[in-house]
Amino acid sequence: MPTSTKPVIDTGLTKEERTDVVGELTKVLADSYAVYLKTHGYHWNVRGPEFFSIHNLLEQQYRDIWAALDDIAERIRALGELAPMGGAAYANLTSIKDGDPEKDANSMLTELMKDHETLIATMRTALKTADDDGDDVSVDLMTVRLGAHEKMTWMLRSTLGVA
Ligand SMILES: [Fe+2]
Repeated sequence: MPTSTKPVIDTGLTKEERTDVVGELTKVLADSYAVYLKTHGYHWNVRGPEFFSIHNLLEQQYRDIWAALDDIAERIRALGELAPMGGAAYANLTSIKDGDPEKDANSMLTELMKDHETLIATMRTALKTADDDGDDVSVDLMTVRLGAHEKMTWMLRSTLGVA
């Protein structure tokens, strides 16, 4: 029997606040994973006259997202919950579909741009939830990731020449 009513995790956020934020961070992690996998796959499979610049741009982006996956998952652990594992678990948590290596370069970039926009929307919800729950560290993490993905979206947009 516990001898104290003091919670095991006593960092100033309630269990409800922590699980609330983790629910949103888990969606961000899953969408980020999906965008990571597609970016890395298109880095391998893109073809055409712009091959080298797109191949390199996508490498820069997948490396950044890969590092962020660790930060997001470790934030979930710091909030006292478990990070999801395995392809099936992630597939169930995201609406972002797998890429198609047969696509042409423009279709790949357009698809990635839309997926970043989906991820950005998920991040904005997570940021708002973290803010409402007083979790400044998750607010900070989501702010940094939002900026990074807005920049990636800009680069995809401008590579496509659409804006
Ligand atoms: Fe590579």
